[in-house]
Amino acid sequence: MARFDLALKGGECVMPWGVVRADIGIRAGRIAAIGDLTQAEAAQTVDCKGLHLLPGLIDPHVHLRDPGDPKVETMETGTRAAVLGGLAAVFDMPNTTPSITNTERLNAKRDFVNGHAWCDIGIYVGGTKTNIAELAALELEPNVCAIKIFAGSSTGDLLVEDDASLEAVMRSGRRAICYHSEDEYRLQARKPMFTPGMPHINHQEWRDVETALLGTRRLMALARKTGRRAHILHVSTAEELAYLADYRDVASCEVLLNHLTQTDEAYGRLGGYAVMNPPIRGARHLEAAWKAVADGTVDCVGSDHAPHSRAAKERPWPDTAAGLTGIQTIVPLMLDHVSAGRLSLPRLADLMCAGPARIYGAKTKGRLAVGLDGDVTVVDMKKTRTIEDSWIVSPCGWTPFAGHRCSGWPVMTVVRGHIAMRDDEVQGAPQGRPVEFIDTRHA
Ligand code: DOR
Repeated sequence: MARFDLALKGGECVMPWGVVRADIGIRAGRIAAIGDLTQAEAAQTVDCKGLHLLPGLIDPHVHLRDPGDPKVETMETGTRAAVLGGLAAVFDMPNTTPSITNTERLNAKRDFVNGHAWCDIGIYVGGTKTNIAELAALELEPNVCAIKIFAGSSTGDLLVEDDASLEAVMRSGRRAICYHSEDEYRLQARKPMFTPGMPHINHQEWRDVETALLGTRRLMALARKTGRRAHILHVSTAEELAYLADYRDVASCEVLLNHLTQTDEAYGRLGGYAVMNPPIRGARHLEAAWKAVADGTVDCVGSDHAPHSRAAKERPWPDTAAGLTGIQTIVPLMLDHVSAGRLSLPRLADLMCAGPARIYGAKTKGRLAVGLDGDVTVVDMKKTRTIEDSWIVSPCGWTPFAGHRCSGWPVMTVVRGHIAMRDDEVQGAPQGRPVEFIDTRHA
């Protein structure tokens, strides 16, 4: 008789080819069977009737701030938030303090994952003008999801803004490079147009559509010239989405939950708590983002979880810290978008599991399939719940979505066969591990 460590019985499984009623058996951290497990034995069985089973969802864009300021976030709190919100893995950005820009810091971060992370973690390495020659080797280190380049400045000191340096980055290595794409020269040139204390809505005027489009046009020209794949993070304009459709030979892209959910009315309502880079913009950009989700232009959806203290968010604009929490709320909000008919559950699984696995090359993640990791996000599409600040476990303690009522809610997160969250409680101890990627050295 077949034996499993965990059997998830009677749920609706979200497969790439549609939604199928099936049991899932997990053994030794991997999916060992999908089908009718009536005759099987399992150490633990969970009745999933009436629930949907998605492949363990991945947020490919988070800032866990560790090392950094534990009053804002740590790896433990950020990943606790992740599993409470239904994420089985996150890819963590390098603009920590200090930033992850060399082997020593990368090794220290990887070692820190075991015992501190509730979900699995892919690690970005930051590119700077001083480590360009090392990037080709750094991107092959174990558990590196990608090199991240800030081509426009944001939080932290990582920046590679000029074409000569960007071309040198593209010629150092082979894997897809992830870019924060805003034209630094236009950003700096426009800054003096604004004075301290102006309303927050000016954020979208400072870092305007042309700033984003120009950044992406420059990167696409260099990507074609060098033949190096580019993944453009948090694309925020209708113009870039239309432009990128002609660059699929070298480019893929991500849009953020925020850009699919909020428009520039948020500045008046939330003040500094709406400020992020690239900015929240007018409704036509949100509509373009949804069209790009529907027509396949978009490869991944992320949260860009970027916690800051309330004090930093409440500084007068333009000194307001840029960045919003999102790791705990992205899945409920995407499920709410599913309930509203904006996308299907299979497309959600594509954007938040298969897409990140394909673009970054995660070896054993991407879908519900025998042999792949036993990562499952179990959701109740009939459950409604309102997001509250008090639910947020990131120590900074706020969400720009407080008061948002969601239809659809994650009720269990399984990470390689461990139940990390069930019914809003984390279970046991942190079991997260660094994610393995194709083309990197084995740890
Ligand atoms: O709003 C943002 N916040 N955008 C970024 O690119 C960085 C992030 C942060 O780290 O605070």
